[in-house]
Amino acid sequence: MTNKLPSIIAPSILSADFARLGEEVNNVLAAGADWIHFDVMDNHFVPNLTIGPLVCEAIKPYAKKNGLDVCIDVHLMIEPVDRIIPDFAKAGATLISFHPEASKHIDRTLGLIRDQGCQTGLVFNPATPLHFLDFVLDKIDLVLLMSVNPGFGGQQFIPSTIEKIQQTKDVLLAHQEKTGRQIRLEVDGGINVKNIAQIHAAGADTFVAGSAIFNQPNYADVIAQMRQQLAISK
Ligand code: DX5
Ligand code: ZN
Repeated sequence: MTNKLPSIIAPSILSADFARLGEEVNNVLAAGADWIHFDVMDNHFVPNLTIGPLVCEAIKPYAKKNGLDVCIDVHLMIEPVDRIIPDFAKAGATLISFHPEASKHIDRTLGLIRDQGCQTGLVFNPATPLHFLDFVLDKIDLVLLMSVNPGFGGQQFIPSTIEKIQQTKDVLLAHQEKTGRQIRLEVDGGINVKNIAQIHAAGADTFVAGSAIFNQPNYADVIAQMRQQLAISK
């Protein structure tokens, strides 16, 4: 079974121009992006401070293609997580992912996200073992593997992530064979036109890219080149 879900490109607005955020969201979607990746940092779980539910609510009207809402993929790098989940759901988040280290009760947090009408994601730092998936796969819509240590855009892709993607894909395939349900496999950090094919070939289907897109003058060019790479990699 090849089990390749359609590839999703999810630009991280962490590298966008925050003074013109709505316009940046509009532009990157018009340039061919599929989702908007929304990085939330608290200067506690990670050493940086970014954006919260108010900004999510503010960009929501811009997160549209052909009049339809696109997925706002909220990546929580905060601790604790439960208190603020309903705020993000109200602010228009489509999917909310969190790090297992940041929740005392992972199963409960996943349930809370679904109760709020959002899809769930569990995020793994480069050194975080995959066993956190063991008893909660039925409650997860997306697994997010960090290919950098979280906190900043513009870092280098950590090569050992490739093996971790392959291992995760095996777990997700086994789950699909058992239940018929497909779980997305997203990778975040240091993704660019040069390495996206290898990341895809290893089993990822959802690609976060911040600096590789927003640091270039022509977003459509970068996204088209990424799609070309995805098309030639199996
Ligand atoms: C890192 C964030 C990423 C990051 C990606 O903590 O979760 O989403 O902004 O940026 P690039 O693509 O520049 O590594
Ligand atoms: Zn992220």
